[in-house]
Amino acid sequence: MQKILNWGLLSTARINRALMKPLNASKRTRLLAVASRSLDSAQAYAREHKIPRAHGSYEDLLANPDIDVIYNSLPNHLHAEWTIKALRAGKHVLCEKPLALTLDEVDAMISASKETGKVLAEAFMYRHHAQTLKVKEIVDSGELGKIQLIKGAFSFSLTREGNYRFYKEMGGGSIWDVGCYPISFARMVVGEEPLEVFGWQVTGQEGGDDSFFGQMRFRGEIYAQFDSGFKSPFRTYIEIVGTQGVLYIPFPFKPEIKNEIILTRDGKEQKIRVKGQELYLGEVEDMCDAVLNNQLPRVSLEDSRGNVKAILAFLESAETGKAVKI
Ligand SMILES: NC(=O)c1ccc[n+]([C@@H]2O[C@H](COP(=O)([O-])OP(=O)(O)OC[C@H]3O[C@@H](n4cnc5c(N)ncnc54)[C@H](OP(=O)(O)O)[C@@H]3O)[C@@H](O)[C@H]2O)c1
Repeated sequence: MQKILNWGLLSTARINRALMKPLNASKRTRLLAVASRSLDSAQAYAREHKIPRAHGSYEDLLANPDIDVIYNSLPNHLHAEWTIKALRAGKHVLCEKPLALTLDEVDAMISASKETGKVLAEAFMYRHHAQTLKVKEIVDSGELGKIQLIKGAFSFSLTREGNYRFYKEMGGGSIWDVGCYPISFARMVVGEEPLEVFGWQVTGQEGGDDSFFGQMRFRGEIYAQFDSGFKSPFRTYIEIVGTQGVLYIPFPFKPEIKNEIILTRDGKEQKIRVKGQELYLGEVEDMCDAVLNNQLPRVSLEDSRGNVKAILAFLESAETGKAVKI
């Protein structure tokens, strides 16, 4: 009989809602429990979302022997601490992006996963979607010629007062929150780490960046440019420019089930329709494959480490006003 993995939500974060449908839809998962810093809030949340069990502390959830997988949806500065605690409590962990805020934290998380033999993966949901796989296939096929430039953006208007996203000490700032997507996308397209980065930021009142503007240089004269921000309307795109063609992706990070990407070659525009699946189902199924079938998670920990390393280099560059070699 197929084993069913019992999942527990670490906090009542807004993003949890995105995981509920896939967790209820997958034949290999069951959403069993939620934890909150207060029992009242956990119970109210469990009632609202028909989750069987509620825990009044994160420790209680980790002590629940029926839980197999923890979804860590805490604010960024708590990812490392609670992921390590969950791994040491014998749970597999799907941790929200960014995996952590320093390389020491990432390395401690990787060590904890190795030592406990429990799966750890970063919840970069877009990486599992058919559209992303199609983009990579087109780039790798050589249809675009030699890749020269990858441009992208992710911005939105952040109006939630007091949200952790504003506070530097909580891993706030647009580069950690949404800039991480175009950086991750560019690194995936190139398939290598950047050699050097340069960035500017507009610092917000609470120390996190309100806007970030950055560029990366990769081996072989490949460049990437991105911007991220909390002070402009919702915008996303990725454009991949090669010597033979250009691929434009209007919704690279939050693709719907059906999408179009636009390939331009020899002055002719071709709209390519990609049928995917519900966006967050991919990371849930990938986690099941890793835990139940010993498959490697699609987003490797080395990859997650590379993204954190690039973001830290960008922040250093913005602070020093100098390009930073990686
Ligand atoms: N992949 C995606 O599409 C996506 C989208 C959005 C966010 N995210 C990621 O998901 C994570 C959570 O984001 P979110 O916007 O969903 O968070 P959120 O709504 O602000 O919730 C975070 C939760 O963390 C708990 N918490 C513990 N200590 C806290 C503290 N000191 N301050 C505030 N909350 C604290 C709270 O739960 P309790 O009160 O129940 O303990 C709170 O509800 C972030 O890492 C973010 O990057 C990913």
